Amino acid sequence: MDSKLTKKPSATLTINNKQLELPVYAGSVGPDVVDIRKLYSDGKVFTYDPGFTSTGSCESQITYIDGDEGVLLYRGYPIDQLAEHSTFLEVCYLLANGELPNPEELKRFVKDITYHTMLHAQFDRFFEGFRRDAHPMAIMVGTVGALSAFYHDSTDIDDPVQRTVASHRLIAKMPTIAARAFKYHAGQPFVSPRNELDYPSNFLRMCFAVPAEDYKVNPLLARALDVFMILHADHEQNASTSTVRLAGSSGANPFACIASGIACLWGPAHGGANEAALKMLEQIGAVDNIPDFIRRVKDPKSDVRLMGFGHRVYKNYDPRAKAMQKLCHQVLKEVGATDNPMLKVAVELEKIALNDEYFVSRKLYPNIDFYSGITLRAMGFPTSMFTVLFAVARTVGWIAQWTEMMEDSSQKIGRPRQVYTGAPKRDYLALDKR
Ligand code: CMC
Repeated sequence: MDSKLTKKPSATLTINNKQLELPVYAGSVGPDVVDIRKLYSDGKVFTYDPGFTSTGSCESQITYIDGDEGVLLYRGYPIDQLAEHSTFLEVCYLLANGELPNPEELKRFVKDITYHTMLHAQFDRFFEGFRRDAHPMAIMVGTVGALSAFYHDSTDIDDPVQRTVASHRLIAKMPTIAARAFKYHAGQPFVSPRNELDYPSNFLRMCFAVPAEDYKVNPLLARALDVFMILHADHEQNASTSTVRLAGSSGANPFACIASGIACLWGPAHGGANEAALKMLEQIGAVDNIPDFIRRVKDPKSDVRLMGFGHRVYKNYDPRAKAMQKLCHQVLKEVGATDNPMLKVAVELEKIALNDEYFVSRKLYPNIDFYSGITLRAMGFPTSMFTVLFAVARTVGWIAQWTEMMEDSSQKIGRPRQVYTGAPKRDYLALDKR
């Protein structure tokens, strides 16, 4: 990746009676950055930024978020336009290659992904090692990491061809693995991919078809799944993407890196929030119980949070949440569940929270997870699969960010510093003297 940073007038920092000139750079849009790489060597201090709230870890040309304005762009294209007009595989091509494909490029890419969807036959035996009641995310973490044991011919990270093959394999095989995790949990036989189906239809079929009867894909639900995946495809340097980059910075192979991203995504503050949001809506149960729930959320002594609300970066309505809300209504209409009690609770909860001083003053708006759980449940997915679907969609973002890092000559192994507040040096005390 060629750097596109533009130099701006430098900043001056006075520290330890020394003046340091710190270079300042501008990107194409968004805030400028202060380059502190020489801060320790020249000033003998570190920066302190737990949670990386003000720290840029890399230069990237993939995704842009303006959290105050509620803007999300993939390679410059607004998320709402992509959700309206594009397909998930076209978005995958865009994220991975930087430009929208022409018809020939898209045809070739779709074929390439389609013909990588099958898994090595030996791979299926892995699933049997898990308990039937294992969480599908536990199965995902284990099996995706195991891909590196099956596809040795795409683990040489210094070979661009192998990197591309690994990327295509991951995008192609994730739905097959996810569907197997689902089927294993349900105690049903695995369903193999079919090359005549498009990506979302194939995934729905692998999840819901059973040998006892024919399965007909509902095109509206397939399109809904496609849009869900577009909305989740990338989100710049979030926790799981940063995990993938950090794992990759040591030279780990792409399958191992994506497995680390899946592990991070699982947490309820990140990808696990869609599962947690639905559980919360179920727990509230009815519109009448909302005031009591809101009281508990606002109680400083309680650690109850309104799941599906708030975001580290968005301090305005999450643009993905708007598209997700629309999708949710379409899906519920299609499956005849418009009087779903959880939807009623969600709509009312959103209304109350958007007008409540506690949420308004903290800029807490619905995020994408608020409506995605209800949508996925209406499509037939159990709660435990929600984060798995997020992982399937986010794989392209992880792999595009990993590839960008591999092509960036300025990247080094990730190695944050710390401020140590433990015991200073002291001598070991023999056991009988303690
Ligand atoms: N419900 C109630 N209060 C909240 C919430 C919430 N969901 N989120 C933040 N707050 C309050 C928090 O208590 C704090 O209040 P105070 O200043 O009085 O102590 C203030 O808002 C700032 O919170 P924070 O924890 O410092 O904010 P953060 O930027 O570190 O956290 C977050 C971001 C997403 C972890 C958090 O908003 C949260 O836990 N949300 C619920 C989980 C969720 O929906 N996560 C999905 C994120 S979107 C999907 C993804 O990208 O992975």
